[in-house]
Amino acid sequence: MAKILDGKALSAVVKDEVRSEVVELEAKYGRKPCLCVIIVGENPASQVYVRNKVKAAAYTGMESRLIELPSSVSEETLLGKIAELNSDPSVDAILVQLPLPKHIDEEKVIYAVAPEKDVDGFHPSNVSLLWLGKECIVPCTPAGVMRLIDSTGVDICGKTAVVVGRSNIVGKPVAKLLLDRNATVVIAHSRTADLGAVTRQADILVAAVGKPGLIKGEMVRPGAIVIDVGINRTEDGKLCGDVDFASCSEKASWITPVPGGVGPMTIAMLMKNTIRCFKSRVPGAR
Ligand code: GUN
Repeated sequence: MAKILDGKALSAVVKDEVRSEVVELEAKYGRKPCLCVIIVGENPASQVYVRNKVKAAAYTGMESRLIELPSSVSEETLLGKIAELNSDPSVDAILVQLPLPKHIDEEKVIYAVAPEKDVDGFHPSNVSLLWLGKECIVPCTPAGVMRLIDSTGVDICGKTAVVVGRSNIVGKPVAKLLLDRNATVVIAHSRTADLGAVTRQADILVAAVGKPGLIKGEMVRPGAIVIDVGINRTEDGKLCGDVDFASCSEKASWITPVPGGVGPMTIAMLMKNTIRCFKSRVPGAR
């Protein structure tokens, strides 16, 4: 039976690390890091995520600002708001919650955020730095996945890691981070032939596809670490992951629950990234 990788407990540790650092940074530099979160429209899931991000920022003692724009807002107005925050010296980190309404070009919005304030690590400057193996802002969910894996104490070097999903936000960056730690990495996706044959090779299996219960116990190698990035809502309103927890926990050595696994870690790493943005902007703080 697998041990539970408790993202809620680990995220509390990370947020406490940030909380101590905020005190130190304020004492040293005379101001606190400031995270600015923009939400457009009334997507209920996004509203929950954003509320939790602002709540976490308050817990760590950093400043946060929430900008709520109606779903009817024009792309031009949103880009104008981002430009304003880019040039506001009191703002260290900018997050635009995705998805955006259909009439707004998400790519344009991502490109508009100043790279040094791009707390999500989505700007092409940060993405290219990541792929070149240079210092950069690492996207929050992949960073959280790595911290969860590290908390098992298992050495990633030389292990076979299978990432199911190839999104820019999770699949691709998590694969690169695993590669940086000398895992042998396979990226599987919706066109992968015989997914089970591929996932059964995995010492570390990361599922990030958004398909409820896709990964079944028979697809898991005995003793694998299973990380479930999926957050899906079932018809009865319950949250469930991409991993069928009941059958996979019979096979895995470690497994993340949904909720309470990767989700809280994403928010905790967002706090870490805000500190990073602050340090990159304050002379002498790095
Ligand atoms: N929507 C779902 N995940 C994320 C994320 O990590 N960042 C932002 N900005 N929006 C998201």
